Amino acid sequence: MKHTYIIGNWKSHKTISEAREWFATISSYKSQFDNLTDKTIILCPPFHLLQLSSACIQEYALPFSLGAQDVSPFAMGAYTGEIAAEQIKEFAEYVLIGHSERRKNFAETDEMIAQKVQKALEAGLKPVVCVQGKDTPVPQGVTMIAYEPIFAIGTGNADTPEDAEDVLKTFKEKGFESTIYGGSVNPDNVNSFTSQPSVSGVLPGTDSLDPQLFANVILNS
Ligand code: PGA
Repeated sequence: MKHTYIIGNWKSHKTISEAREWFATISSYKSQFDNLTDKTIILCPPFHLLQLSSACIQEYALPFSLGAQDVSPFAMGAYTGEIAAEQIKEFAEYVLIGHSERRKNFAETDEMIAQKVQKALEAGLKPVVCVQGKDTPVPQGVTMIAYEPIFAIGTGNADTPEDAEDVLKTFKEKGFESTIYGGSVNPDNVNSFTSQPSVSGVLPGTDSLDPQLFANVILNS
């Protein structure tokens, strides 16, 4: 059976108390999640919630892994405001790199993205590199990519499952192991994506913020 990844991206949302509430609510789905041996559920909260999220995952014994949403292109050191891969590794196993919101709002270049990937790999983190289409370059050593068409992000206007399949098939043929779709994924459309042969999973943003919606994306995937 195909293994499916569900990666929730909270972006720059939630305070500590909101995160605690989210975990308390989603914990009521624990027994249903425990049966899902063919799924890897990854939550990417903002940096300041990684430690709390790790504690809540333990407290409620949820079958969730953690990811960060970004990583410094440098090692630990005098880089004010940055969080290094070694620091992320204390809490998380995965890291999103090159999300289009970072490329657009923080002028991230392919070169910076390659440096971030290198730092993530050196620290033993699994990078999930976001691509906008078939031609987006992906640095060496990456096995997991997420196709995130800009028009579909946060718009409620998802790409078609056929388009996602077409783009992700190209990446599969290039040897990428996990090829994920992101952009307006919700509980109703998730299965149309995950049922495509080349789609290894989904990356919901908006619908990961609500614990019930996120739980239903997981259960319907
Ligand atoms: P969305 O975000 O689900 O709100 O479209 C997806 C993403 O940007 O990762």
